[in-house]
Amino acid sequence: MSLPNSTLTVNDRQIEFPVKEGTIGPSVVDISKLYAQTGQFTYDPGFTSTAACESKITYIDGDKGVLLYRGYPIEQLAEHGDFLETCYLLLFGELPTAAQKADFDYRVTRHTMVHDQMNRFFQGFRRDAHPMAIMVACVGALSAFYHDSTDINDEKQRMIASMRMIAKMPTLAAMAYKYSIGQPFVYPKNDLDYTSNFLRMCFAVPCEEYEANPVLARALDRIFILHADHEQNASTSTVRLAGSSGANPFACIAAGIACLWGPAHGGANEAALKMLEEIGRPERVGEYVAKAKDKNDPFRLMGFGHRVYKNYDPRARIMQKTTHEVLAELGIKDDPLLDVAMELEQIALKDEYFIEKKLYPNIDFYSGITLKAMGFPTSMFTVLFALARTVGWISQWAEMIEDPSQKIGRPRQLYTGAPQREYVAVSQRG
Ligand code: SDX
Repeated sequence: MSLPNSTLTVNDRQIEFPVKEGTIGPSVVDISKLYAQTGQFTYDPGFTSTAACESKITYIDGDKGVLLYRGYPIEQLAEHGDFLETCYLLLFGELPTAAQKADFDYRVTRHTMVHDQMNRFFQGFRRDAHPMAIMVACVGALSAFYHDSTDINDEKQRMIASMRMIAKMPTLAAMAYKYSIGQPFVYPKNDLDYTSNFLRMCFAVPCEEYEANPVLARALDRIFILHADHEQNASTSTVRLAGSSGANPFACIAAGIACLWGPAHGGANEAALKMLEEIGRPERVGEYVAKAKDKNDPFRLMGFGHRVYKNYDPRARIMQKTTHEVLAELGIKDDPLLDVAMELEQIALKDEYFIEKKLYPNIDFYSGITLKAMGFPTSMFTVLFALARTVGWISQWAEMIEDPSQKIGRPRQLYTGAPQREYVAVSQRG
């Protein structure tokens, strides 16, 4: 249904702009002709009021705390499905039939090995290199190995590259972890499910048999579902912008990994756990809440707040439940970090500052406690986020490539620098 145009008055001239309505959520004012008609740009640093694209993949209602992947609520997908089913849904738009799921699992499983020369890349890194640095490098380098799937205009090549990315991220992530602890790489096994395979590549050693704990494998698989996609967040927008120039998909995903690394984004899970460790005891929570509220103190509660969610992040609720499940399975009765997190949540949710600014726990608040309990070092937390988000990045990238109206992204600016001036010879400079 078309909505009435929006009118803007510029230099006493009234100009009309079409309004587009989505399936659900806010409509948009199409201002693509604004500059041509007025000589003015819009100004929206951080894109707080800007829809950069049209998409059918993920919908978020920040006020209601709703997250849908292709229309399906995250709570139902996390409860009833597995991560590869979510991957199929995000990539193709529909839940797979049993036959489609079996075929998809089979194809992903048989792309899990990386070219054996990738092993040599790792020898170039220090053992204490941050695994996100390794992931940025190695994922970008995949384009050096797979020349048969870098032509973005070929639908078949796009699909092969997508399957390769989803399949190889766990292998590369496990290699980054093994390298950091000086243990030999473990090859994937085709008779294991996606997440059990990943756990085995991380925690198996040649000296003995390893079998993933099915409760932990299910919990981690659910954590991957929660992290799979999230509309036009910073790293997804990075992937879209990189892809808009025609860059190959491996390079675009490497750009997304680089952006996700930041502590304001995917790096928050690592930062949140470090914050909980620094607080140390529930009795010290009040001191840190006061720091977070102090305008003169740059400290922020990591794992709290969100650009879109002004209500509880639905993923955080599922994450909290998963945390309790994992700790119970591991027989961890009183985890001091969980005690600090629960106390922090209790205090913050009752505090005027957090209520007024609508700051709630986000997905990164509880994930660190769970992953640490599973045996992952803090430095691997954002790597796991990147592993799961790869399917979201690649689905959004493919949607952009297939969009007939797609063109290279090229924002403009408000220039406040020096006006034109003449060059001064160095001998004349004061
Ligand atoms: C992710 O976009 C996505 O979808 C991301 C993500 C995904 O799945 O892709 O959901 C994953 O990145 C989750 C967010 C993880 N980041 C953190 O937990 C880091 C801590 N949170 C903040 O840095 C912050 O809340 C952001 C970055 C998440 C959102 O920042 P905004 O939307 O730009 O909001 P803002 O910085 O303008 O803050 C609004 C106000 C400010 O106070 P005023 O200047 O208005 O007085 O709230 C305050 C901020 O100071 N505030 C906080 C706070 N977060 C915001 N105060 C204390 N602690 C915090 N965590």
